[in-house]
Amino acid sequence: MSAETFQKVDEMKAAIEAEQPANLDELEQFRIKYLGSKNIIKGLFGEIRNIPNEQKKEYGQRVNAVKEAAETKYAALKNELETQAEEAAAQDMDLTAPGEPLDLGSRHPIAVTMNRIIRIFERIGFIVADDREIEDDWHNFTAMNTPEDHPARDMQDTFYLQGSMEMLLRTHTSSVQARVMKNAQPPIRIIAPGRVYRNETVSARSHCQFHQVEGLYVDEGVSFADLKQTLLYFAREMFGPDAKIRLRPSYFPFTEPSAEMDVYLGTETEKDYRLTKGTGWLEILGCGMVDPAVLDNCGIDSNKYTGFAFGMGIERQALRLYDIGDIRLFFENDVRFLKQFASTI
Ligand code: DAH
Repeated sequence: MSAETFQKVDEMKAAIEAEQPANLDELEQFRIKYLGSKNIIKGLFGEIRNIPNEQKKEYGQRVNAVKEAAETKYAALKNELETQAEEAAAQDMDLTAPGEPLDLGSRHPIAVTMNRIIRIFERIGFIVADDREIEDDWHNFTAMNTPEDHPARDMQDTFYLQGSMEMLLRTHTSSVQARVMKNAQPPIRIIAPGRVYRNETVSARSHCQFHQVEGLYVDEGVSFADLKQTLLYFAREMFGPDAKIRLRPSYFPFTEPSAEMDVYLGTETEKDYRLTKGTGWLEILGCGMVDPAVLDNCGIDSNKYTGFAFGMGIERQALRLYDIGDIRLFFENDVRFLKQFASTI
C-alpha cells in the first residue's frame, strides 16, 4: 500500500521533469497545475495519513522535494520565457516608424518677460516679495495714501468681491508695499511681481487683468537720484546699452514727487512706430519718492527714512519683446500661440 503511494510521488516528479511549457501561456498552466491553490501536489500531501508512522517523515520529505522541483522549474522557465518574449517583441519593432511626438511645455511669454525683469533687479540686491491677489481695501488703497472718497480712487476701476466693500481684487502691486513695510524695518529693497485686475473694457491694448512688477527701496538717505539711476540701469539691461529714458512729472497718491518713465524705442521699425503711436517713446512705469504718509501708515519713521517706489506694466514690454499685436492673446491660452515661445528662463 505505502509502496504504491511512494511510487505516485516518483511518478509526479518524473511528470514535472517531463513537462515542457513552450511559452508563457503554457507556463501559466504549469503553475496552476503544480503550484496554484488547487494544485495536484496537495493530493500527495493528503496521502500522508495512509503512510505508516515510521515512514511518514521520509514521505513528507519526498513530497516536499517534488514541490521544490516544481518551484525551481517554474522560476527558471519564467525567466527564460520572459526574456524570449521580450526579444521577440523587440524584433517585431519597426525601427523606421516615426517617433511618438513628445508634447513639451513652454513658458508663457508674460512669465518669461517677468522673469527677465526680476533677474535684472535681483542683480542689484532686490528680493522678490510675493503676496495675495485678493486684497483688503486698506492695503490696496488706504495705506497707499488713497483713503475713501479720495478722487484718485477713480483712477482705477475696482472689482470688489460680491457683497463686500472691504475685499477686492488688487488693482496694483503697490498693495505689496504696504504688506512688506508693515512687517519689516529698513533697509527694505523688494520687487513684487504679479497679476492685477481692473474693471476695464477688454480690447487689443487693454485688459481687465494684467501684470505688474512693483519696486520699493526704503532706507536712510534714499534720493530721487537713486531712483533715476536704478531705472536707467533697468532700461539699459532690458532694452539694450543705448537705451534712453525720460521722466515726466505725474501724479500718484503714494509718491511725492511722482513721475512716469518712458523708454525711447525709436520709430524705425513698424512695430515700434505702432507701439509708441509714432512718438518713439514707450511709457512703461510710474514711480516717485514714497510719500511720508505711506511710510507712517505702515509703521516706518518718515523722519528717519526715505524711499523710492515704482510700478511697471509687463504686457506692453512683452508685446515689444515678442512682436505681438494684441494683448488678449496673452490670456486666451491657445496652445498654438503659446507653443511659439519655447524658452528656458
Ligand atoms: N500703482 C501704479 C499703477 O498701477 C503704478 C505706480 C506708480 C507704482 C508709482 C508705484 C509708484 O510704486 O511709485 O498705476
